[in-house]
Amino acid sequence: MTDFPLAWIRSQYPALRPETGTDRVFLDNASGSQVPQTVIDAMVHTLTTMNVNKGGAYGASERVTAAKEAVRAQVAAFLNAPSPRSVVFGPNATTLVELLAQSFGKTLAAGDEIIVSALEHHANRDPWRRLEAHGVVVKTWPVREEARLALRDLEGLLTPKTRLVALTAASNALGTTPDVAAVSARVHAAGARLMVDAVHYAPHALPDVQAWDADMLVFSPYKVFGPHLGVLYLSDALLGALPAPKLTFLAAADPIAWEPGTQNHEAIVGFGGTFRYLDELAAQLGVQGSGRTAWAGAFGAFAAHETVLLGQLLAGLDELGATRYGLPGTEGRTATVSFNLGSHAPQAVAKHLAGHGVTAASGHYYAYELMMHSLGLSACGGAVRLSILHYNSAEDVAAVLAALAELA
Ligand SMILES: Cc1ncc(COP(=O)(O)O)c(C=O)c1O
Repeated sequence: MTDFPLAWIRSQYPALRPETGTDRVFLDNASGSQVPQTVIDAMVHTLTTMNVNKGGAYGASERVTAAKEAVRAQVAAFLNAPSPRSVVFGPNATTLVELLAQSFGKTLAAGDEIIVSALEHHANRDPWRRLEAHGVVVKTWPVREEARLALRDLEGLLTPKTRLVALTAASNALGTTPDVAAVSARVHAAGARLMVDAVHYAPHALPDVQAWDADMLVFSPYKVFGPHLGVLYLSDALLGALPAPKLTFLAAADPIAWEPGTQNHEAIVGFGGTFRYLDELAAQLGVQGSGRTAWAGAFGAFAAHETVLLGQLLAGLDELGATRYGLPGTEGRTATVSFNLGSHAPQAVAKHLAGHGVTAASGHYYAYELMMHSLGLSACGGAVRLSILHYNSAEDVAAVLAALAELA
């Protein structure tokens, strides 16, 4: 493999160019990434040449249908799903989890149990908790010190009545990456299903539904250098078995049964631009192979680059005397960091950073229960979050640390 081609990478993102970018330093990537030119081109191409509905007996309709199905196959490869049939598109992950929970809820009886980890973004919490109204018992798998999830705690919660465990593959607030495969083994041994939220994981590492033995999973292409879109994975065993939100005449064992109404074609086809970008990046890196093999090489290089920047950021925050939350080091996590600086309100810190051209998140980032209750940060209004992606640079990290030093 060759050196990490950061200059080439940054040149692919119009929003990162000084003449286009309004913010010099993007460090709010966990809220949504920027997109490479290949995505913009694919969206423009779709809107320009095939902006019609599917199912028509004419060229543009056939082309947009084929283009969408080609991206469905690429997404299946991205997730290591055995078949494109398992890939459902939707507006965003939250809406897809809601659809899924309403459907799954219809298969449950009063007294059945669901376990939701305390690390969850509320998108993978509230739709399951709402099933309490139908007599389902929803338990929380609490975090321990450094916001770690312990398997022995899960084992204490699993019972013969457990039907589902909802777990994030990476915390959008703290970056923590639980051992999904180990959890999956416990969940399946108990006869329950595993629902994985890979929204914050997928921008940093390739999800693997087979290695994880996931029954259901969501991720959001708009965080993976793609357009605003959501994806749901449903295992073959569940597709067709769960009651789908479908129109009567559609087949149940088809992803279309889970895609009510007309989809955002330009976003779905546009996501193909992300895979083209990953292909080109893998070629730049000298990675052998194609498809998922090539993307695995690219993501491996992302992880190495992001870990270096994470180390730089953690060391800099410690030097400034910041209070950090979650895991102390670079292991077992993504390059996403939550912290507070002295008595400064998180929102004031984010505003200060914005004045220096740095985008940062502040508050609870929809991981409300984790931030406000498990970590007890309600009195100080949550925390500040900086989230690094592969297109960030050492200069970005130095810039945010210099701006924070003015406050410290
Ligand atoms: C971990 C995690 N899960 C779920 C979501 C919700 O995703 P969406 O915006 O696609 O509904 C987010 C969004 O920030 C997230 O970070």
